[in-house]
Amino acid sequence: MNILIINGPNLNLLGRREPGIYGTRSFEDFFPELEAAFSHLTLTYFQSNHEGELLDKLHEVGFTHHGIVLNAGAYTHTSIALADAVAAIATPVVEVHLSNLAAREEFRQKSLLGRHCAGSISGFGLESYRLAVQWFHNQQPKRAGFRV
Ligand code: DQA
Repeated sequence: MNILIINGPNLNLLGRREPGIYGTRSFEDFFPELEAAFSHLTLTYFQSNHEGELLDKLHEVGFTHHGIVLNAGAYTHTSIALADAVAAIATPVVEVHLSNLAAREEFRQKSLLGRHCAGSISGFGLESYRLAVQWFHNQQPKRAGFRV
């Protein structure tokens, strides 16, 4: 089962960026732990600060991978293009956020992506990613054609 984790703008600065909101750990530090916890899955990771690169990556994997975990950062709230891409692809997408968007500024409370996603997980820091991968893992027996 292939699952790609996509991080959008400014998430390359995790660990250094507003640690009171986003924590003190980088994604690069966390990712091996996630891989070890789900060693029966093939997890890959992609980060870009550029909307077009995020679109290209969704198009590239969106008809072959079994799952995508997407933290689109601020594009969550602004990008119709990313929302259209999530709607266009066949691979199910789980939207994740480190912070609890419901408890933040009003402009963060609207996700343009959410309606096209299988679900959204928000507010658990890096654990949000683990919960998203766990959901894909739980789907396996229910879906035909998955190979671990
Ligand atoms: C975020 C929340 C967004 O509003 C913000 O722009 C981010 C990070 C999160 O993971 O909490 O860049 O997606």
